[in-house]
Amino acid sequence: MKNFISVNDVTDINAMVAKALAYKKNPFADRKLGADKRIGLLFLNPSLRTRLSTQIAAKNLGMEAIVFNVDKEGWALEFEEGAIMSGNTVEHVKDAAPILGQYFDILCIRTFPSLKNREDDYSELVMNSFVQYAGVPIISLESATLHPLQSLTDIITIKESLDDRNFALAAGASNTPPLGDGGSKPRPKIVLTWAPHVKPLPQCVANSFAQWVNAWGEADFVITHPEHYELSDQYTKGAAIITNQNEALQDADFVYVKNWSTYNDYGKIYSNDPAWMLTEEKIKLTNNAKVMHCLPVRRNVELSDEILDSENSLVTKQAGNRVWAAQAVISEMLSTFPKGG
Ligand code: CP
Repeated sequence: MKNFISVNDVTDINAMVAKALAYKKNPFADRKLGADKRIGLLFLNPSLRTRLSTQIAAKNLGMEAIVFNVDKEGWALEFEEGAIMSGNTVEHVKDAAPILGQYFDILCIRTFPSLKNREDDYSELVMNSFVQYAGVPIISLESATLHPLQSLTDIITIKESLDDRNFALAAGASNTPPLGDGGSKPRPKIVLTWAPHVKPLPQCVANSFAQWVNAWGEADFVITHPEHYELSDQYTKGAAIITNQNEALQDADFVYVKNWSTYNDYGKIYSNDPAWMLTEEKIKLTNNAKVMHCLPVRRNVELSDEILDSENSLVTKQAGNRVWAAQAVISEMLSTFPKGG
């Protein structure tokens, strides 16, 4: 694996999931793989889970991880080609990235979109500049449009939950509902639902989740959102899109809750109908669905306390799985692109 920017960098999703779950069982199986290697984690935005889980994953593989908060501690970076740097930016990425490439064997970047100019954000200028100029493998810790480590985690969590459910069914558990087709074939129904929020948020998590679930191809996939919240069809193609949330939730096995701002009239909040918050009442429409969210979550805005604190919620398990997703990706990179190899 040369870089990890989107699902297109992964040749076999199920193999990646299996690798991650193997690390979950045995975190230190490859504790020497990254010996004498260094990974740099560059943050242009805040993070709790991505930052810590990636550091832990690298440490489990024997790597040294160094975190640098570019937004607070670094020189303001310029990304525009040919910029006359007479404003606030101090250092061009063309100058900074090759230096970072000498300091680190793998470089990880976290950035967000501006949500002001769709063309700029969807060109992925920040991530692509590091890919172009760093000269070492790049891992996206979330970009302007995608969050691949989160999405790999999400597939891992779904697969793990399916395995648990099938195991429970095989063991004769009567309170474990079968999947939509009666449990004979583990093809779950996954629903990605828009939720209200107080701020306009990026489309990254939703785009990325849609991209990964479609590429995985082992689920019936439905996306539901109010009118005007259509995502880019480059990610959603293959999913059924329904603007009636109650209809979409029927018999769902997994419900992924996430807010996003508008894509067409870019970066806006149109309606913010509180009726779209997932509640216990809505879970009754589903197949006792497991509920997912990438976190951080606005309680009682996006998701009710009753759901987050219920047995249906996978959010803590999901966030825990961030370590194993990151470990599988770093391990893959170390195995295929060791420095100087
Ligand atoms: N889900 C996620 O990326 O969390 P952080 O923003 O805390 O890293």
